[in-house]
Amino acid sequence: MKIDVEIGDIARWEDEVVVVNLFEGVGHPGGATGAVDTAIGHQISAMIATGDITGRFKEVAVFPSFDRIPGNRVMVVGLGKREEFTLDRVREVSATAAIKIRDMGLRTFATVIHGAGVGNLDLGDATEAVVEGALLGLYRYTEHKTDNDHKKIESVTLVNLDKVAVGAMRDAVHRASVNATMTNFARDLVNAPSNEKTPRMFADRVRDAAKAAGAKLTVLDEKQLAAMGFGCLLGVAKGSVEPPRFLVLSHDGGGKSKPIVFVGKGITFDSGGIALKPLEAPGTDPMWVMRYDMGGAAAALGAVLAAARLKLRVNAVALAPLTENMPSGSAQKPGDIVRSFGGKTVEVLNPDAEGRLVLADALGYAKTLKPQAVVDLATLTGAVKVALGKHAAGMFSNDDALAHRLERAAEATSERVWRLPLWDEYNEQIQSDFADIKNTGGRSAGSITAAKFLERFAEGMTWAHLDIAGTAWVESAPDSPKKAYLPTGASGYGVRLLVRLLQDWKTTG
Ligand code: BES
Ligand code: MN
Ligand code: ZN
Repeated sequence: MKIDVEIGDIARWEDEVVVVNLFEGVGHPGGATGAVDTAIGHQISAMIATGDITGRFKEVAVFPSFDRIPGNRVMVVGLGKREEFTLDRVREVSATAAIKIRDMGLRTFATVIHGAGVGNLDLGDATEAVVEGALLGLYRYTEHKTDNDHKKIESVTLVNLDKVAVGAMRDAVHRASVNATMTNFARDLVNAPSNEKTPRMFADRVRDAAKAAGAKLTVLDEKQLAAMGFGCLLGVAKGSVEPPRFLVLSHDGGGKSKPIVFVGKGITFDSGGIALKPLEAPGTDPMWVMRYDMGGAAAALGAVLAAARLKLRVNAVALAPLTENMPSGSAQKPGDIVRSFGGKTVEVLNPDAEGRLVLADALGYAKTLKPQAVVDLATLTGAVKVALGKHAAGMFSNDDALAHRLERAAEATSERVWRLPLWDEYNEQIQSDFADIKNTGGRSAGSITAAKFLERFAEGMTWAHLDIAGTAWVESAPDSPKKAYLPTGASGYGVRLLVRLLQDWKTTG
C-alpha cells in the first residue's frame, strides 16, 4: 500500500473517498470537516441535525458528493467524546475507516490526520497512529484462501493544511509503516499452521526477512546446540522428528555499547509432549491454537528486524529457541533431569512446562552477550489469562527502572503490561529434591512460579519477563479485545512495544 503526505485542503482532493471526522455532540463541524461540509452544501450538518451522524466512537457515515467536491464520496468517522479521546482511539478510528473502504471494494482514499492538535496530541504521533491503525486493521491472513476476494486498498493520501509539518509527517509515516509491517510479519508467522513453520522452515523465513532488513542472522543447528550444551532445549526437542534451531538475530546500530537482548519462546507446536493436552476440553484452549506458542519468538525477531529497518542507534539482539513439543517414544519423560546452558540442572516434572526450559537455555546464552538488559516474551502460562485476561501481558522484573521503561512503552503503544510480584516465598514451590530446580510449581500462582523459574537463569542480568499467553492471540469471544486494528488470530503483540522501548532507550532513564 502506497502512503503519500500532501499539503492542502482536503475538500479539494480528488479521490474515491475523502475521510473526515467528528467528535460526539458537535453540531457545527469546524476545521477540515467544516470545510468539506461547506463545500458540499452543508450535508454533514444536516445529517447531524437529523441524528444520522452523531460522532459516536467508530461510527461511519458514507455518502456520495454529487460532484460538489472532486472526491467521489465523503466519509465521516466518529471520534467519540472529546474528553475520552486517546491516541489509541486514533488507531481504531483509522482502522475502522480503512476496513470499511476496503470492504466496499474501493482502492484509494484521502484522509485527514485524526486527532492532530486535539489536546496535547502532536501531529507526528497522530500521523503515526493513523498509519499504524490502517495497516494493522487491514491485515488479513489469506495465505490459504483459494477463493480470496482480492479487495485491496492500493493508496492512501494523508492530507494536512499545515505546510511546516511535512518532514515530521513523512518521518512518522516511515516509523509507522515499519512497525506495522513487522507486526504483520510476526502475525503471519504466528498464524501460519505448524506444518509450515517447523523450526527449519521458521529459520528460513527469518533468514529472508533478515536479508531484506539488513540484520545479521546466525542459526545454530542440533549438532551445534549439543556441542554448546543446550540441554533443556534438546530435552524438549527429543520427542519430535523435527530438529530444533536456535536463532541469533542482531542489529548493530549502537557502536561499542552493550546490546539490549530480546528472548522469545519459539515452540512451533505445543502438544504438551508426554503430558499430552486434550484436543478440546471445557475451559481450556483447543489444541490447535498451540501453534501460537511461538508468539514470543515472532515478536522478539520482528522488533529487531524493525530496529534494523529504522536504523535505530542501539545494538539489539533477538534470541529464539525453536522446537516442537511432541509425544513419542523418544520424548522426555516426567522425572527426567536435564542440564541447562549455564550448568544448572532441571528436573522435568511436567513435559508440558516446556517454555521455561527452552528459555532457561536462551537466558544462559544471553548472559554471554553481557547485555544492558534482557526482556523475554513467552506464551508461558494459561494462568496469566486467568489473572489478567487478554488485555495485558503479565510483567515480571528484577529491576524497577527496566519495568518502568516497559510501562512507558506500553502506555505509548497501548500494548499493555501489568506487573506481578517475584517475592522469595514463591521459590519454595520450585525447589527440587533431585536437581537444582524443578520445572513446575503447581497450580497456585502458576504464572509467578514460572517467572521465578526464569529469574534463576537471569541471575546477574537486568531482566524482565512478559507472559503473553493472553495477549498474543485474539478471538471473537467476549474476553478478547475488540479493537478495530486487532483482527482475529495473531495480534503481533510485542513488536511495537519493544521497538518503542529501543527508540526511547537513550532519551529516558
Ligand atoms: N504454551 C503453554 C501455555 C499456554 C496455555 C499458552 C494456553 C497459551 C494458552 C505452556 O507451555 C503450558 O503448557 N503451560 C502449562 C504449565 C503447567 C504445565 C505448569 C499451563 O499453563 O497449564
Ligand atoms: Mn506446554
Ligand atoms: Zn508452551
